[in-house]
Amino acid sequence: MSLQSLETQILNQISEAADEAALEAVRVAALGKKGSVSERMKSLGVMEPEERREAGAALNLLKDTLAAAIAARRQVLQERALEARLAGEKIDVTLPARPQQQGTIHPVSQVWEEVVQIFGDLGFAVAEGPHIEDDFNNFTALNIPPEHPARQEHDTFYFTEKPDGSRMLLRTHTSPVQIRTMLAEKPPIRIIAPGRTYRCDSDMTHTPMFNQIEGLVIDETTHLGHLKWMLAEFCKVFFEIDDVRMRFRASHFPFTEPSMEVDINYSREGGRLVIGEGDSWLEILGSGMVHPNVIRSGGHDPERYQGYAFGMGLDRLAMLKYGIPDLRAFFEADLRWLRHYGFRALQTPSLAGGLS
Ligand code: PHE
Repeated sequence: MSLQSLETQILNQISEAADEAALEAVRVAALGKKGSVSERMKSLGVMEPEERREAGAALNLLKDTLAAAIAARRQVLQERALEARLAGEKIDVTLPARPQQQGTIHPVSQVWEEVVQIFGDLGFAVAEGPHIEDDFNNFTALNIPPEHPARQEHDTFYFTEKPDGSRMLLRTHTSPVQIRTMLAEKPPIRIIAPGRTYRCDSDMTHTPMFNQIEGLVIDETTHLGHLKWMLAEFCKVFFEIDDVRMRFRASHFPFTEPSMEVDINYSREGGRLVIGEGDSWLEILGSGMVHPNVIRSGGHDPERYQGYAFGMGLDRLAMLKYGIPDLRAFFEADLRWLRHYGFRALQTPSLAGGLS
């Protein structure tokens, strides 16, 4: 085949290549090590010098022509591919939102957000800790040494023993975040820590996984009066009614001294809970002044620092506020239940705009 027809043939193949892969195949077939043009280069070796000079120049010219044609074709193909992609991924941002929202916000998420808003306004920051905890943070540092009876009360889910004999566990309360925060920060400390907690327990008001929100204030002056005021204030704002009845009961927790539990009154009307009426009481939180041993475990001097802590059941709060009688329904993932009790996704609670 003459050089001329070889050139025409390859140029045709180049302009017919439909995508970059096809183009690359044409390039390899012509200019690759064993390509048709490269093969002809090899034949230069057996030519007379005069002949070789001429043929060599012609071949080099051919190579340049082909390389330029390939580059030009590649550019076209790339632009075309980009255009196709842009056309395929096009979305019309001016379309109206779907009139029927499918999903709703779970009451626990709603209450979580409401509580964060209220405490945020009171000057609390949000802290976090892992669900899988060690014994130190969940128990020992909270003044619950090994053999303490409180360990049995917590119905703890343990992981299998490690070679050193220790066992990780699913945190039984959000109180380990108290320890983690104190070890990481200097007073004044003012945090809340919402999150999942786990206990081997199940009935109408207990589920193996539930949500708590921990609160911790550590400084040099905060006392029990502050705690009571803050809890009363919180309940008024959260329940959005002025005459919430609260019952403060003297109690005992290893990590607070003195300690108190708080109940809220409600009545059961048909399948609903009604808060502020009747004389049934639901415990919603435990609280107290942080025990000196706990402040010490957190790396601070209990002679200088003091403060309060509390742990509230978020699911309990949701039951009371939204009249939900059975805690277990929260975790059954029944869509009809969610549609009935759920909240609109685009309405986030805020103190200014309304909590619920
Ligand atoms: N951790 C306790 C519980 O789970 C609640 C609590 C927190 C009590 C902080 C006092 C202070 O029951």
